[in-house]
Amino acid sequence: MEQELLKLKQEAEEALAHVAGTDQLEAFRVKFLGRKGGLLTGILRQLGQVAPEDRPRLGQMANDIKLSLETSFDDRKALLSATVGEGVGGTDYSLPGRYLPFGKLHPVTQVMEEICSIFEGLGFAVAEGPDVETDHYNFEALNIPKHHPARDMHDTFYVTDSTLLRTHTSPMQARIMERQDPPLRYVVPGKVYRCDSDITHTPMFHQVEGLLVDRQVSFADLKGVLTSFTHKIFERELPLRFRPSYFPFTEPSAEVDVACVICGGNGCRVCKRTGWLEILGSGLIDPEVLKMVGYDPDTYSGFAFGLGVERIAMLKYGIDDIRMYYENDLRFLCQF
Ligand code: DAH
Repeated sequence: MEQELLKLKQEAEEALAHVAGTDQLEAFRVKFLGRKGGLLTGILRQLGQVAPEDRPRLGQMANDIKLSLETSFDDRKALLSATVGEGVGGTDYSLPGRYLPFGKLHPVTQVMEEICSIFEGLGFAVAEGPDVETDHYNFEALNIPKHHPARDMHDTFYVTDSTLLRTHTSPMQARIMERQDPPLRYVVPGKVYRCDSDITHTPMFHQVEGLLVDRQVSFADLKGVLTSFTHKIFERELPLRFRPSYFPFTEPSAEVDVACVICGGNGCRVCKRTGWLEILGSGLIDPEVLKMVGYDPDTYSGFAFGLGVERIAMLKYGIDDIRMYYENDLRFLCQF
């Protein structure tokens, strides 16, 4: 009888380990633990026939086995109901899939990529430069010597006396021209930093710089490229206005306004009743800048422009506070 009990225990444990699904579990219970006709019950019934001196020991043994199987049965039952229902190998294929939240590109990144791809369509290549820049490339090479008043416009974060967080993507103009001869066409997307913060300024923001150098490049080329770009990015043929301006590294310089994307030029709160919105700075590259990188300004000319990505994204999506982009509120970010 002892042998019978041990054999039953082993068999039952093995069977339980292979149980998949509640139907099989119930069949297991009936076969091994069932009150009527269960295998264990059958053995217990024979206890009356064993020698009296063996009865207590075998009785105890049978009870232990019963308890242990019942515990294993309960565990198995709990496990099955917690994780799976019925199905092959214990997997319930009818359960809904688990939700895995998936990431998306930040709206500023999306717009920056869109800007670059429009210029790529116009034959521009994409280049990137360092965020920690030298004073030389950020200022000197762009015709902004020490004590030049234009430095005041930049609210620079200095790292050391001669290194800083770039205040614009323009330093890449000199870096690109130094390592390559014309003709060249580049756009440079990237982060820039200025010590400034309010509803239209954040200390870090994004720009895309544009640069084209060749023989006989004129202001008309600049106008043509920027007009095509604006029509593409705003998906409408909005009028443009080139307004004379000043940058130390371009001559002549212009700031470019687009007819207000909200009111179409009639005047509203967003365009401060002017009907125009400024979107970028641009100009023909100053001969001094060309000379500094070793180009002959009598042979080559070029244009450059720098646009603010957040600004364009705000106008494209009608957002009136730039800080929304950086508060990491998923209710905002997930709308793009
Ligand atoms: N770097 C200027 C800024 O951040 C923008 C700019 C103006 C870039 C004129 C240019 C340019 O390339 O030609 O304010």
